[in-house]
Amino acid sequence: MNALAATSRNFRQATRLLGLDSKLEKSLLIPFREIKVECTIPKDDGTLASFVGFRVQHDNSRGPMKGGIRYHPEVDPDEVNALAQLMTWKTAVAAVPYGGAKGGIGCSPGELSRSELERLTRVFTQKIHDLIGTHTDVPAPDMGTNSQTMAWILDEYSKFHGHSPAVVTGKPIDLGGSLGRDAATGRGVMCATEALLAEHGKSISGSTFVIQGFGNVGSWAAQLIHEKGGKVIALGDATGSIRNKDRLDIPALMKHINEGGALKDFHDAEVIDSAELLVHQCDVLIPCALGGVLNRENAPHVKAKFIIEGANHPTDPEADEILAKKGVTLLPDIYANSGGVIVSYFEWVQVIHCNMLLPTISFHNSH
Ligand SMILES: NC(=O)c1ccc[n+]([C@@H]2O[C@H](COP(=O)([O-])OP(=O)(O)OC[C@H]3O[C@@H](n4cnc5c(N)ncnc54)[C@H](O)[C@@H]3O)[C@@H](O)[C@H]2O)c1
Repeated sequence: MNALAATSRNFRQATRLLGLDSKLEKSLLIPFREIKVECTIPKDDGTLASFVGFRVQHDNSRGPMKGGIRYHPEVDPDEVNALAQLMTWKTAVAAVPYGGAKGGIGCSPGELSRSELERLTRVFTQKIHDLIGTHTDVPAPDMGTNSQTMAWILDEYSKFHGHSPAVVTGKPIDLGGSLGRDAATGRGVMCATEALLAEHGKSISGSTFVIQGFGNVGSWAAQLIHEKGGKVIALGDATGSIRNKDRLDIPALMKHINEGGALKDFHDAEVIDSAELLVHQCDVLIPCALGGVLNRENAPHVKAKFIIEGANHPTDPEADEILAKKGVTLLPDIYANSGGVIVSYFEWVQVIHCNMLLPTISFHNSH
C-alpha cells in the first residue's frame, strides 16, 4: 500500500478510537503546505544534473513544524506527505512542543561526490529558505543526510537571514549541535525495547535480535543492545545481510564498517539472503531502514515475538493485521523512534537560550 494511504488509514483508525470529530479528522489529513522545487546543479564533470526536492509542512498547532530531510531515490510527494504526518503524531506522543514536517530530495547520495551533495543541499536551501525558520519549520537529518548536511543548510540559510543556528537540529557540535543527538534515535529504540520486554517479564540480555538497516538508527540500536548483553544475531543493509547464530560482534563490525568495509564482507558472519532477514528466527525484530518492508507477503512468515519500528512506517496496514492475529507485539514508530526528535528539541532550546544570552555576555565582556 502507498505510504500516504497507509499512514492516513492508521490515522483514521486512531480518530475512530479517540472519537474525533470528522471535520477535524479531515482538516488534520490535509497538510498545511506542500512545497516542490527543482534543483539543478553542475556536476563535478561540468554537466548539469536536475533533482526534485520536497518539503511538506503538515501541522503547526502544537509548535514550529519539525522533521527530517531525506536523500533517497524513492523520495516522492506521497512518501514525504506520509512522513510529515507521522512527525505531527510523533511530536505529540513525545510531548515536545512541535508540529510535523518532512522533506527530501529524490537522489542517490552514494552516487554523488561530497561537493555535488553540498551544491545540491545549498540549492535546495535557496529554494525553501523563506519557508523554514527557527520558529516556523526546523529540519533535521534523516536517511541519506547527516550533521554535515545540516551544517550546509545552516550556512546557506544564514546568508539570507543572518546567523541562525536553531534553524536546523542534528548539527555538528561545534555549530551548536547537542551531545548525544547522533545516538539519540537508536538509544530511544533501545530504551523502548527494554521497557516493552520488561512489561513481558523479559530483558535485553536474555533476548535475540535481528536488525534491518545499519545506518544512524540501526547501528546505534545494535551497539546499545549489544552493550546491554543482547544477542544481535542477524543484520542487513542496502548491500546485503549477515548472521552469526551465536552473536554478532557489533564493536568489531563497527570497526570494519568505519574502515570502509561492506557489511556483507564482515569476516565473523555468514551471508544470508536479504529476504530471509525479516523472517529470521529471533525474539525481537527491529526494522531501521525503509518504509513498507513488512507486507502481506512476508508478515505470515515473521518469527519474531516483538517488532520495534526503528524506521518510519516499516509495517504496512495489511502486515499489521496479520501480525496482530499472530500475536506479535508491535511498538509503533511514532513512539519507538521518537528519541531523535526529543534530543533535537533539547538542541533547539539550548541554541535559542544561548543566543538570547549572547548580548548579555558581550555586555559583561565590554566592561
Ligand atoms: N536519523 C534519525 O534520527 C531518525 C529518527 C527517526 C526515524 N528515523 C528513520 O529511521 C530509518 C533509518 O534512518 P537513518 O537515519 O538510520 O538512515 P541512514 O541513511 O543513516 O541509514 C539507512 C540504512 O538503511 C539501509 N538500507 C537502505 N535501503 C535498504 C534496503 N533496501 N534494504 C536494507 N537496508 C537498506 C542503508 O544501507 C543504511 O544502513 C528511516 O526510516 C528514518 O526515517 C531516523
